[in-house]
Amino acid sequence: MAIRDIIRMGHPTLRTPAKPYPIEDIGSPQFNQLVEDLTDTLADSGGIGLAAPQINEPVQVVIVNIPGGENRYGELEAVPWSVYVNPVLTVLDDSRAGYWEGCLSVPGLRGFVVRPQKIAIDFYDGDGEARSITAEGFTATVYQHEFDHLSARLYVDHIQDPRLLVFEDQMIAHDLGALTKDLQEEVTRGIR
Ligand code: NI
Repeated sequence: MAIRDIIRMGHPTLRTPAKPYPIEDIGSPQFNQLVEDLTDTLADSGGIGLAAPQINEPVQVVIVNIPGGENRYGELEAVPWSVYVNPVLTVLDDSRAGYWEGCLSVPGLRGFVVRPQKIAIDFYDGDGEARSITAEGFTATVYQHEFDHLSARLYVDHIQDPRLLVFEDQMIAHDLGALTKDLQEEVTRGIR
């Protein structure tokens, strides 16, 4: 068990493309240690996804854990603890929607980001099996956010309107989700 430090925006590793993980090394002690560290670190942080570069390991490994049920994003489809190695993402159609995203490497901030909402993912799982899945809605946004980390991108790179990048405590204090509704819609429809 090891809770690792999460590096923050400004650290060069977050802006360096991650290397593909050698498939033959999935299941090795080093791989299992990496997954365990990611799992422990994510559990400790209370987040829903963590990419290896965020603990300063520049390889294409991501873990996701979305508790299902009702929360501030609405009714969520649960994604149990799962590992994604060398994921390749394909956008299936042009449906788009925005969510307020946060990132453990950009603590304290929330930003409204519009992304494609129907995607397919090809990846290797934690057992080294090649898998293909599809995802929609908020789940699709989570995958895109996490896999962006492997391409040296952060969600703030996708902010279409800087007025929709705010501190989380201010968002709560001023009910910015409701206050910025019109702006969110403009951004989602591509007007801004
Ligand atoms: Ni992130």
